[in-house]
Amino acid sequence: MRRSRQVAHFAGLRTEAGCSISVAIGLQLCLAANRAGPIWHVYPKGARRASQQIFAGCGAAGRGILKDPKAEERSLDCARDDKLKSRLTESRGNSKSQKRRRDAGGTKKEMTKFIHVGGRPVWAEISLKAILHNLRVIRKQVDGNGGAKNSKHRERMILAVVKSNAYGLGAVPISKALQKAGTEWFGVTCANEGIELRESGIRKRILVLTGFWPGEEKRLLENYLTPTVTRVDDLRHLERAAKSFLGKLARGKSSRGNSSRGAFSYGSLFAAKPSRVRFHLKINTGMNRLGISPSEVEAFARALAECPHLELEGTFTHFASAEDFIGGQTVTQEELFRSCLDRLRALGVEPGIVHLANSGAICARPETWADMVRPGAILYGYHQRFDPPEKRSEVMAQMPLEPCLSLRARIISLRDVPPGEAVGYSARFITERPSKIAVINAGYADGVVRARTNRGCALVRERRVPLVGTISMDLTTLDVTDVPGVALGDVVTIYGKDGKSAIEVSDVAPEIGTVTSDLLCALGRRVPKYYV
Ligand SMILES: Cc1ncc(COP(=O)(O)O)c(C=O)c1O
Repeated sequence: MRRSRQVAHFAGLRTEAGCSISVAIGLQLCLAANRAGPIWHVYPKGARRASQQIFAGCGAAGRGILKDPKAEERSLDCARDDKLKSRLTESRGNSKSQKRRRDAGGTKKEMTKFIHVGGRPVWAEISLKAILHNLRVIRKQVDGNGGAKNSKHRERMILAVVKSNAYGLGAVPISKALQKAGTEWFGVTCANEGIELRESGIRKRILVLTGFWPGEEKRLLENYLTPTVTRVDDLRHLERAAKSFLGKLARGKSSRGNSSRGAFSYGSLFAAKPSRVRFHLKINTGMNRLGISPSEVEAFARALAECPHLELEGTFTHFASAEDFIGGQTVTQEELFRSCLDRLRALGVEPGIVHLANSGAICARPETWADMVRPGAILYGYHQRFDPPEKRSEVMAQMPLEPCLSLRARIISLRDVPPGEAVGYSARFITERPSKIAVINAGYADGVVRARTNRGCALVRERRVPLVGTISMDLTTLDVTDVPGVALGDVVTIYGKDGKSAIEVSDVAPEIGTVTSDLLCALGRRVPKYYV
């Protein structure tokens, strides 16, 4: 009964407000990007409310929690909607009044069992619980497993890599949860990403991993973001910005430094006496993208001596193939990095916090853990592929991670298609039997990547069903012929668990020749995100 009501609701939305909603989408996205409040024009009845609900989560990273007062009441175990529904129905009997209440939208208790997306039925569930579990697993790995002790014999720090909107999953809510759980550092890619975290209340250290573009350094300092120097020349720009910033701070003119909250919270960002700005140095040891070359260590030390307002707080490198245990690139990188550290020390420059390990190295290379580790993919619950492949099972047994993403949609159309008919753009799927073709309201703009056309499966009623036909921007077609009782409104799990079945992002990535992070980052910004 509920299912048919919901379907009617979706259908109503489509026909009543479909095209206006797309206008609203465009408007809302532009406005969110500009951080202005939405200006609503007159839309057909229902469109405005529906769009507000759907797009409440579509601002800059992390504003993805539906701002609906009832949101907290909602459990996100959507894939089990049907089971929960039948359990609820069974346990509560079927008196007329109860039935009327359920039909009228459900009791408060029932509300906890459903997500009401409020429109286009596609949504992501991001399990903060899983991410916090993964954080604990990582801590145990780097502190509890007898890896080489760090130089100061302290517990290793964790720098949570939350760049690119936490791999598409929502940097703000994820960082807030991680901050609460004691994560020491966060890693972003540019000033804007760091500022978003600062504005949301992240007070822990934030390292801007990818360096800075001249002009960006001022914003980094004003927002207490820690810059990375990737070229010797960066020092000149940073020194100038640091001198000016520290001068303003001393005169009490800094936007944040002169507030008591700023002064208190950010004090540790500076050297013991706040007369220097701290930065990290990146050394290129073989990736050949960013970082000073080993041959530039002397030039760096000389240039640093000319920078009285700067202090080297940390030194790092990045591995190109930490999961590869057949080739020797990582060992070569590590050796080169260590020789650079020795040269720095010999030149009288203390490298500070030493960090090298990304996910692959955290999982399987204890010799690289140093003072701090930088997990990205594993924090979100996804092990990489290893070479040789057997290494992966060893790593999975050692570090049991929980994948954090579920991407789900509901069936919005079901069609009986006779044999020999084409489905979707360019007729890339032809039915070979009388088929039941389901359509979901999720396409490549939502994160169902186009490379999965005619490849791979989703889950419906715990069964794997093939994705058939070309995946389009907004819609995907599935062959649900073999799913008994399949119905409009059924939940389709694109990634995640459905009862005993699961399809994880990390299973799909190798099928289409890519990596998990690529698929996570493909999650569309119009997809509402629920944090559980
Ligand atoms: C400098 C740096 N460290 C750590 C990471 C995290 O990598 P992974 O997702 O493999 O853990 C990244 C991600 O690209 C990175 O750029």
